[in-house]
Amino acid sequence: MASVLFSPITMRGLTLPNRVVVSPMCQYNSNNGSANDWHLMHLGNMSLGCAGLVMAEMTNVNPQGRISPKCAGMYSDENEAALKRVYDFCRQYGVAKLGVQLAHAGRKGPQMPPGAGGKPILEGPDAWTPEAPSAIAYDAGWPVPHAMTKDDIKRCIGEFAEAAKRVDRIGYDVIELHGAHGYLAHQFLSPLSNKRTDEYGGSSENRMRFAIEMYEAVRAVWPEQKPLGMRVSATDWVEGGWTPEETVQLAKELKKRGMDYMDVTSGGLHPQQKIPLAPGYQVPFAEKVKKESGITTMTVGLIAGYQQAEDIVASGKADMIVLARGALWDPRWAWHAAEELGAETPYAPKMMACHPKLRPQLFPKRAQAT
Ligand SMILES: Cc1cc2nc3c(=O)[nH]c(=O)nc-3n(C[C@H](O)[C@H](O)[C@H](O)COP(=O)(O)O)c2cc1C
Repeated sequence: MASVLFSPITMRGLTLPNRVVVSPMCQYNSNNGSANDWHLMHLGNMSLGCAGLVMAEMTNVNPQGRISPKCAGMYSDENEAALKRVYDFCRQYGVAKLGVQLAHAGRKGPQMPPGAGGKPILEGPDAWTPEAPSAIAYDAGWPVPHAMTKDDIKRCIGEFAEAAKRVDRIGYDVIELHGAHGYLAHQFLSPLSNKRTDEYGGSSENRMRFAIEMYEAVRAVWPEQKPLGMRVSATDWVEGGWTPEETVQLAKELKKRGMDYMDVTSGGLHPQQKIPLAPGYQVPFAEKVKKESGITTMTVGLIAGYQQAEDIVASGKADMIVLARGALWDPRWAWHAAEELGAETPYAPKMMACHPKLRPQLFPKRAQAT
């Protein structure tokens, strides 16, 4: 039977050759938010054929929206020019379609990069006062954020739109808005971090307002033919937090407004979360969102097996699978999966020399067929 994982999928004017996506992955290696040679290597490498779509890391819409001083940004001409250099390489040599995840970390910044300990930065030249829906710190010992005024919210939503214009000017195919993992939009969604009493807090409908306005502002400036999605945590894994049912409701609201996909993940909002990690543990959330809202979904988290990925999309539990650590482990994952599943997938022209069809003797299934 033909592989579903390696069948194309179309969203607006974009057709991906397969259902494999490289997840956005923070590199904690930017200079004042700007990409450099590391990103050229990392994203350039992924663009050669790991997946149909390669997402660039969480890229923040203002300097105080970064997780760490080394995180990526899209708030200056320098940021735009630096990412354009990376993009140009990926377009010239790679075959993957290219996306950027736009974000704001809210109360989860500023912190040291994980490799430097991940501790909150409370003072010194790298410290800043983060902004969030309410003045509630992520955890004891973390900075207490400034509770955003309505003017702050308006400004921040405008920054998402300005960053989206820059991403479009560079040439990217897809924007994913980060509404997950405890960052700003998720902080608005969850009643654990949002204690506002105005129209941005309280009821489920009010808590969704920021995410919806962020989506609408970006959709208004992002070209009609280009897909726009959002990554959302389906649960906080903490009693009294954001729920899968609310996630479905948000998906319905965003679908009504033309959103192209929801990338369904979980957690990240609260230090007391208890996550039952297991292969594909977040797939049931994507399945629920897809079945109950009808929106196109991506699923992510502990997916790395070829047949595991095929089964998820073939059984209709999700439309696309997203790999983070699996893609770091094997940047040629899609080539290897396609070979195992008897499917074809694009190779970068400069890598064609290694294509199994040029040396079938080494590949049992091809050897039998010849
Ligand atoms: C190095 C690294 C950086 C990450 N950075 C981001 C990010 O920028 N945005 C995001 O939504 N998730 C980020 N994540 C989470 C992953 O995208 C993914 O959701 C998670 O690792 C689970 O998938 P996996 O089991 O395939 O690694 C990161 C994960 C890793 C390992």
